[in-house]
Amino acid sequence: MASDGLQRTALDHLWLHFTQMGAYTDPAELQVIVRGDGCHLEDAGGKRYLDALAGLFCVNIGYGFGAEMGEAAAAQMRELPFAINWTFAHPRSIELAAAVTELAPGDLNRAFFVSGGSEATEAAWKLAREYHRVRGERRWKAIARRVAYHGTTLGALSLTGCTELRTPFEPLVPDVLHVSNTNRYHRPPEETEEEFTRFLLDELEATIVQAGPETVAMVILEPVQNAGGAFTPPAGYFEGVRALCDEHGILLCADEVITGFGRTGHWFASERYDIRPDLVTSAKGLSSAYAAIGAVLATDRVMEPFSKPGAMYTHGMTFGGHPVQAAVALKNIEIMRRERIVEHVHETEADFRATLAQLLELPIVGDLRGCGFFYALELVKDKETRAGFSDAECDELLRGFVSPQLFERGLICRADDRGDPVVQISPPLVAGQAEFDQIAGTLGAVLAEAGDRMRITA
Ligand SMILES: Cc1ncc(COP(=O)(O)O)c(C=O)c1O
Repeated sequence: MASDGLQRTALDHLWLHFTQMGAYTDPAELQVIVRGDGCHLEDAGGKRYLDALAGLFCVNIGYGFGAEMGEAAAAQMRELPFAINWTFAHPRSIELAAAVTELAPGDLNRAFFVSGGSEATEAAWKLAREYHRVRGERRWKAIARRVAYHGTTLGALSLTGCTELRTPFEPLVPDVLHVSNTNRYHRPPEETEEEFTRFLLDELEATIVQAGPETVAMVILEPVQNAGGAFTPPAGYFEGVRALCDEHGILLCADEVITGFGRTGHWFASERYDIRPDLVTSAKGLSSAYAAIGAVLATDRVMEPFSKPGAMYTHGMTFGGHPVQAAVALKNIEIMRRERIVEHVHETEADFRATLAQLLELPIVGDLRGCGFFYALELVKDKETRAGFSDAECDELLRGFVSPQLFERGLICRADDRGDPVVQISPPLVAGQAEFDQIAGTLGAVLAEAGDRMRITA
């Protein structure tokens, strides 16, 4: 179908996610992406983009391995296109479980496969509830963080701390409590890192106590929180969270849907921050988004009560651990190892950060945060006071200027205001200095102009 035919048909029949469908007045406004290579995408009109968002934090190996991945998928389809993981097993899910648990830190020795990140979140919360039940306790509540995104199915959405995503669907699954995230930028300037950690841990402890510790099944946290803009943990934070969970018998789940598979320069960010989680959720980078597969990883301690005769995790989905998806994920791990992709992130993260740090010279850029290949720039009205923008100004700045301008200039980043306004930068993990420079160059030009338009002066 020709480009204009595709655009017309899309507007007639395709329902885009998180999209105001009525906003398209002319089919030509809809970008149709038709191919990719390396860190680049191309639309139906032949325009090329540098994808500094890796799809949506997921195409970790970039777009250049389609032939090899396709071979793996085709071979699996010829051999066994489908087998279920309910009671039976098949070779690829077994091999993938072994490969993923070998890469995971500590004794996360068990893998339960699902089809994506939201399903992984659901599965983790249900697993935590049932873990306590099979041990004779009734615990169901969960604690998550404000502005954090854990997915959109009703359970996952209940954990998600983004008000505007939750409100249309209330009432949600009850008994989720939200605590502060690790956003340090808007804390009092005189507060030390140690004091900040203390504040966060005191609040978490008070929340557990308020909920009734014997009713709390799980605390779920991303190692580096994406929504709000790449919040890294302050020193001692995860050590304290682990200690509180241990004290109160609560399972700690690290949501590694984004951070897993190399984004922070480690196979899992739990290793980087020594989180020692009981559960890990994974999706996106597990297959570098070449297949729809996710996983929940569990430690020996979590598995132990389920290994007893008569015990079962009462959960399953037809496509969980699908052989073709598993074959693709296995090939992804093989490619990541062979191409030394995690090592590449580790070795070049300082260069990437230094390149992006040049943007801090712009009056509109207040903060650069993140690690590995996972960064956010916070946009401010006044750097001195760290004052942000009103909702109307945010709208004008992000949706009215930054997003369309970046796209126009061939750079895909995400301008996001689920928390304070940020530009998220998270390229494929094969990006190098040429891509770092292009990202910083285009962002610099657009943000300088954005600052002028908003009349922001140094
Ligand atoms: C941290 C985190 N958890 C869970 C999810 C949900 O994943 P999915 O979109 O695959 O359902 C996302 C998606 O962006 C995420 O970023």
